Amino acid sequence: MLLVANAEAWPGFLLSVEMLRAGADSLGALVAGIDRVEAEPAVRSVGYGGWPNMLGVMECDGAVMDGTTRQVGSVGAVRDTLHVAALAHEVMKRLPNVTLTGEGARRFADEIGFPAENILLEDSRKVWFERLQGELTPEDLRKFPDIPLAPLSRAITDPERVRDTTVFLSADSVRGVHAATSTSGWAWKYPGRLGDSPIPGAGFYADSRYGGAVCTHTGEMTMRCATARTVVLGMKLGLSLREAVDLAVEELAELKEGFLGGVVIHAVDAGGNHDVANFRCSGEIKYWLWDDTMPEPELRQARVA
Ligand code: GLY
Repeated sequence: MLLVANAEAWPGFLLSVEMLRAGADSLGALVAGIDRVEAEPAVRSVGYGGWPNMLGVMECDGAVMDGTTRQVGSVGAVRDTLHVAALAHEVMKRLPNVTLTGEGARRFADEIGFPAENILLEDSRKVWFERLQGELTPEDLRKFPDIPLAPLSRAITDPERVRDTTVFLSADSVRGVHAATSTSGWAWKYPGRLGDSPIPGAGFYADSRYGGAVCTHTGEMTMRCATARTVVLGMKLGLSLREAVDLAVEELAELKEGFLGGVVIHAVDAGGNHDVANFRCSGEIKYWLWDDTMPEPELRQARVA
């Protein structure tokens, strides 16, 4: 058994490790770990710690994929909901559909007993409003939100200049390959924007015969390149894990227009190997790794691709 997650996933990583060690169902273990990350206000890219959209409203995305059945559940732009990865898991288990967004996703959450709560922290609200004040004329601030938002979408960006995501990816010779994601997405995003985290093939993909991949940072690029699917398809067509990740990186590097930024690809193959590649993200990118030969999880550094 192998488990890989982004560095900020630490609040839930050990729980997932313990559950996997104890033989739990993989997606159950991944989602339980993500539940903890979503509930941790110190993690600024997801759940309570996340940043709101341009209107100051939290809209979260999440997904799960079972690589053995290739079943997927995903939710996008869901308001008032903390545990979006768990909600996505319920979509997979209970509905014939793959993805729910916005009001429909919240309606489903009500039906199955996921509480509606305001998950915008006062600190995030304050930063959001200060940024708005910095960009708008007093007249527009008075009319807000009844003003065109599009001109703001390039001016106001993520306060930490990252578009991180909580991603968990597991591979096991018996249980197969599984992926789960959760994020509040791009801070100050246009309302309704979906990132790559709820889009199968973009921010996540798993196929227990070959491997899996999950992406963090600029969803606007991985959605255009179907990055996670490219990695898995590359392995299906005979590439090694490293070659498949490099192919996905090459495709990202071919993009010359549109919004460009960094991407981190976390990938595993069905044989229990892993590769984490940092494409154009500034600074060191780290990730958590555990396999069942390790006494403790290790924080490793992604290779620069
Ligand atoms: N990768 C996270 C996002 O683009 O929303």
